[in-house]
Amino acid sequence: MSDRVIIFDTTLRDGEQSPGASMTKDEKVRIARQLERLKVDVIEAGFAASSEGDFQAISAVAAAVKDSIVCSLARANDKDITRASDALKAANAKRIHAFLATSPLHMAVKLRMSPEEVLEQAKRSIRFARNLAEDIEFSAEDGYRSEMDFLCRVVEAVIKEGASTINIPDTVGYATPELYGEFIKTLRTRVPNSDKAVWSVHCHNDLGMAVANSLAGVKIGGARQIECTINGLGERAGNTALEEIVMALRTRKDYFNLACDIDASQIVPASKMVSHITGFVVQPNKAVVGANAFAHTSGIHQDGILKNRETYEIMRAEDVGWTANKIVLGKLSGRNAFKQRLHDLGIVVEAEADVNEAFTRFKALADQKSEIFDEDIIAIMSETSAAAEEGEFYKFISLSQHSETGERPKSKVTFRVGNKEASSEAEGNGPVDASLNAIEEIVRSGAEQLLYSVNAITSGTQSQGEVTVRLSKGGRIVNGVGTDPDIIAASAKAYLSALNKLHDPSQAKLNAQMTP
Ligand code: KIV
Ligand code: ZN
Repeated sequence: MSDRVIIFDTTLRDGEQSPGASMTKDEKVRIARQLERLKVDVIEAGFAASSEGDFQAISAVAAAVKDSIVCSLARANDKDITRASDALKAANAKRIHAFLATSPLHMAVKLRMSPEEVLEQAKRSIRFARNLAEDIEFSAEDGYRSEMDFLCRVVEAVIKEGASTINIPDTVGYATPELYGEFIKTLRTRVPNSDKAVWSVHCHNDLGMAVANSLAGVKIGGARQIECTINGLGERAGNTALEEIVMALRTRKDYFNLACDIDASQIVPASKMVSHITGFVVQPNKAVVGANAFAHTSGIHQDGILKNRETYEIMRAEDVGWTANKIVLGKLSGRNAFKQRLHDLGIVVEAEADVNEAFTRFKALADQKSEIFDEDIIAIMSETSAAAEEGEFYKFISLSQHSETGERPKSKVTFRVGNKEASSEAEGNGPVDASLNAIEEIVRSGAEQLLYSVNAITSGTQSQGEVTVRLSKGGRIVNGVGTDPDIIAASAKAYLSALNKLHDPSQAKLNAQMTP
């Protein structure tokens, strides 16, 4: 058995299923390029049949990525599989990932199909997919809650039809490490042609055990592919976190005796990019990528670290890409220095007009803030590409605000609505509330606010504030992200960005698992 684990990243598909984490084409391409720098083996770029937007995004990722396999999810039917194959046309190496539920509950309630019908459909779909691509993955959705005998029959049959990867998801995060590992091992032992496929694990984190379950699937079960997302992004409690898996395999090589090809120094840049684009802030105590993951505050620990870092450190911050916030540019930096920095950060901007727009934003920021860090540049590029793609129907212009202890704050916001400039004043419980109320005086969106959060993108009070606003309307949930040294302005920008997403119906997507 191989001692190499395939890292299959599904940030752009399963991660995107988190409420509001929906990404635009450009955002997906930027993340995919970073995943390629990270050297993930497979990038699941989306679910082509879910929307025209996702189809286009997968096509763009397929064209942009050269080294990793690009994959699209598909329900196990001809139409979805054809759509996945079409979206992947430009890929250097492509994979079609077909899934069908196999648990008694899912078959009866969601699919309304008998087990024999499911078996037939699984076989038919893989046969069909094999005419379109060589690399085919089959996932038995809710596999961990499926009956062993039936699952063995399905898996044996789809391997015979040509599936080269078999994925056994713990779709609802119900498994525990030993039991999940044994489950995979039993399947591999009982399925007669099990050696003809790579076995894969895909765990959800509802009980906080996704990483442990995935590692057990590898160690006990003999799986050799792990499906995971950056920062553990995903629906409900999320998916298996890529950074934790990779660092567990590396740090405990003595135990796992397995390798993967990931370039760990790209982990933190990937984490920051995904967090910024999706608006899902990483908790400070999150393993590997949390702001405190390598911070030693206790005097005893610091003393130990100074004498010998191994006393309290099992990994080195720099190995996973943590660097001290470095001032990279300032007010006097020119366009060439700015372009060079984009290049060094691996940010590819194809259109000269987008470089100009980003440079204008950079100059405006440098007027407000003397020191510009990499994080600021990443934020500028996110805003520039979001603006280019969403068309910025609503665009922030300016804000003035008054608040005084004991008085109700007032805010006046000026922004563009289509081609017109609009301005409105309102009061609120606080300055942020007043500003968003002022916007609503004009827009009257009727959207419900689900979340508001503020985060400093670098350290210290000179940092830009990064605000996430999550809105819900008509069954759609969107996140808007805004950055500015003034957190009230950042809040207004975030709110307008969320309104832009609601305004663009092409961004509506189908959730893979919510449909039969
Ligand atoms: O959790 C799950 O079952 C999935 C499959 C579609 C692979 O995401
Ligand atoms: Zn999943």
